[in-house]
Amino acid sequence: MKNTAIRSLIIAFCFLPLTAFSQKTSVQNIDRRVEELLAKMTVDEKIGQLNQVVGDISTGTDVKQDNLLNQIRAGKVGSVLSHTNFENKIVMQRVAVKETRLGIPIVFGFDVIHGYKTIFPIPLAQAAGWNLAAIEAGERIAATEAAADGQNWAFAPMVDITHDPRWGRVMEGAGEDPYYGSRVAEARVRGFQGADLSLPNTVAACAKHFAGYGFVEGGRDYNTVDMSEQRLRETVLPPFEAAARAGSATFMNAFNTLNGVPASMNKHLVTDILRGEWGWNGLVVSDWDSFGETVEHGAAEDDTDASAKCLAAGSDMDMAGGTFQLGLKKALEQGRVTQQQIDEAVRRTLRFKFSLGLFDDPFRYLDPKRREQTLEKPEYRQAARAMAAESMVLLKNDGGVLPLDPAGPFKKIALIGPYANSIGNKDYMSFWTLGLGMRDYDSTKVVTPAMALKPALEKLGFEVTITEICLDANCDEKDYSAALNAARAADLVIACVGERGYDCGESRSVNTLELPRGQERLLQIAARGNKPAVMVLFNSRPLVFPWAMENVPAILVAWQPGFEAGNALTDVLTGKVNPSGKLPITFPRSTGQIPMYYNHLSTGRPQAQFGEMWKSGYLDMPNTPAYPFGFGLSYTTFSYSDIKLNKAAINKGETLEASVTVTNTGNVAGAEVVQCYIRDLFADISRPVKELKGFEKIKLAPGESRTVTFKLTEKDLSYWNDQTKFKADPGKFKVFVGGSSVDVKVADFELK
Ligand code: NOJ
Repeated sequence: MKNTAIRSLIIAFCFLPLTAFSQKTSVQNIDRRVEELLAKMTVDEKIGQLNQVVGDISTGTDVKQDNLLNQIRAGKVGSVLSHTNFENKIVMQRVAVKETRLGIPIVFGFDVIHGYKTIFPIPLAQAAGWNLAAIEAGERIAATEAAADGQNWAFAPMVDITHDPRWGRVMEGAGEDPYYGSRVAEARVRGFQGADLSLPNTVAACAKHFAGYGFVEGGRDYNTVDMSEQRLRETVLPPFEAAARAGSATFMNAFNTLNGVPASMNKHLVTDILRGEWGWNGLVVSDWDSFGETVEHGAAEDDTDASAKCLAAGSDMDMAGGTFQLGLKKALEQGRVTQQQIDEAVRRTLRFKFSLGLFDDPFRYLDPKRREQTLEKPEYRQAARAMAAESMVLLKNDGGVLPLDPAGPFKKIALIGPYANSIGNKDYMSFWTLGLGMRDYDSTKVVTPAMALKPALEKLGFEVTITEICLDANCDEKDYSAALNAARAADLVIACVGERGYDCGESRSVNTLELPRGQERLLQIAARGNKPAVMVLFNSRPLVFPWAMENVPAILVAWQPGFEAGNALTDVLTGKVNPSGKLPITFPRSTGQIPMYYNHLSTGRPQAQFGEMWKSGYLDMPNTPAYPFGFGLSYTTFSYSDIKLNKAAINKGETLEASVTVTNTGNVAGAEVVQCYIRDLFADISRPVKELKGFEKIKLAPGESRTVTFKLTEKDLSYWNDQTKFKADPGKFKVFVGGSSVDVKVADFELK
């Protein structure tokens, strides 16, 4: 597959020139050096190592701090986050290494969310590509750039599952499914960390936010989370466990309470499950002031109490809040924490720094020449473009409007909409592109749809007009009539609508999923021109567009595609790339349907049809989504054979093989995400109507067929049984294979 080739290329060139730097230090050796150092440290120096201080970019509530260099000099800083100035990082490191008593280097952390300098599609979009190799390769590039710019530690991947697209951070995750979320989590960890953390082109990963953050009530960021152990174990934790097993060096606490206990002081999560059950022994960093916020939660009295409770729960490092600086020593003096508990957290911090190779060479990530040679290579852009095109999801294509055909009926194209050619506001990206700076970034690096589509289409013989539409409060209906005039003069309208880049990310929850700022009305007015239209959606979350769903013949979800937005869109609209993205999250019909996710339980009264009374449903809206999980069209079509099973029943320890033959029944080559689901028909407790257990993305030439086989074992059939373990119940199961969560073939089998 093309992506495998791109991946090998990227991996080769990320690793090749750098292997010479690898200085693997053995675990025993690191442990010995950590103990030697620990023995020399004062309590203040130890607490200093557990303090992470904000650099030049603030990504949270206001925090007061003295001059950063003075704090470092005083031995009060173990880590700096969100610092963008390369030269300043060298100065800070020099002060830490040369001007403090023990010369312990600083570890620099940063939010590397969808690329670093080269901006890739948002993580949710990446997940829509269902190409784990490309995701891993993308993180390799992000890590290579970040490390060359002096960052050691990516605050990513965010592996939070969510059922609520109102939550602004839905864009940072892999969607609603724990199985798929786990595979994506592993790919991202591998991509960031590579083979050896101490290489100067790798950064440490940080699985976040532990845990439950995707289930904030009402989708309102930072809100309360309350859920059963069942949901925690089966839906929330699997991607975290996958990240831990893939070797994620660090974890981050979540802001929320979980069943009343703030995640940062949640011993059940951090000590019992993460460190205990999973045997993971990395560093846990708080989220931004989340230790201090335990006071606001009403679960700690003051900084001392907060320090004692968070450390005792198993959390190690204090991000941005300074709570440990204010309260940890007092907690020790009052006997609220032990010296051993502090030592354990410091040990984990020092071990982390050793594993990054910072003690061997504190400046290994601060080489100006490497930085110059590494950032923003054209190859990175190519990978970003390929990934953006692969992430786009074709929801509708009535009458085969797409791909645009120079020999077809549409010669004159009106490109309209607020996102036809938008520069600024981090449009086509998200707030989480901090490597570019906050508001002062160089917006010329983004290729807008107009920049790419117009010349490309004109070259193919189309005529293209561009009508940008202003959506600010001071715009009025005349902007809409400009769209109508453009539509009247054209044969086909391409409407670029969606969300602003700054509306995507943390603290950016919404209460309705309607296409914002009157954009459905814009589509309706343009439709008065009686011309077919293609709606291109630039979005960070599932949106709701009931009118467009019925009336616009072609709909393409482009997400927030990153720097290469326009080029990737051109590739898809012209058919150079055949869309193969599938939704990693359900698109509901209305905001009121939330939570809506494919792997729900059945209820005792499932509604078979809209309107059926005394069944679980609404009077005013069917239970079905607008577009289901796993759905996405192609410019070709695929047919599926019936499922063939290797046996009708398996014993524990045996493997069931479910095979289908998929055929490309259209005229062009295409890629299909073949998905495998199961249903446990009855168990000791109610089980989901479908659960994803495998997928494979295959590429088929026209007329070509391929047999895909999924292997299922007892482990795949097991569930959290409320008695503190996963187990599978003997009995009847169904297996489904198909091109989405609803369009499937089905077969029955039994577990003996
Ligand atoms: C708060 C966010 O929740 C977290 O994801 C991020 O890494 C930190 N701020 C640092 O910016």
